[in-house]
Amino acid sequence: MKNLFYIYCISLFGFLSYVQPQKTLKKSISDGKEIYQDFCVQCHIDNGKGVLGTFPPLAKSDYLQNNIEASIRGIKYGQRGKITVNGIEYDGIMSQQGLDDEEVADVMNYILNSWGNKAKEQISITQVAEVQKK
Ligand code: HEC
Repeated sequence: MKNLFYIYCISLFGFLSYVQPQKTLKKSISDGKEIYQDFCVQCHIDNGKGVLGTFPPLAKSDYLQNNIEASIRGIKYGQRGKITVNGIEYDGIMSQQGLDDEEVADVMNYILNSWGNKAKEQISITQVAEVQKK
């Protein structure tokens, strides 16, 4: 019986160290804003509207809203090739931004909750960690 208790404790510990601590949404958005200003603003612009035909918008972007996983993948590993955002085709290159999983989660929470965007759920570090390169 004692052994069972030890096994329980060890697996609980393993589980807790796997699930990374989650910041509040508010904190994640404010950290994400700083990352956006450093890494994204030169292309996607302060107002999130991008540059029509060259850099796609994030503000009210149907692509972002409907393709959360692909958006995470693009920020994490880079994105190139044809994509359609709000009815306009883009065929550009976004290089890998060199952000860690926590920074990707923060910047996602920022862009998903800015310029009139409103996300249903907070992006977690674990969720970003699970997105693999294609
Ligand atoms: C050098 C310019 C550049 C930078 C810097 C850049 N992007 Fe992009 N981004 C692009 C381009 C170009 C595309 C479209 C790529 C394609 O055509 O496949 C894109 C696509 C996207 C998309 C998916 C399409 C959409 O508009 O919804 C998201 C989301 C995105 N970028 C977020 C970010 C975030 C967040 C950062 C900062 C961490 C960032 N980008 C930095 C140029 C850039």
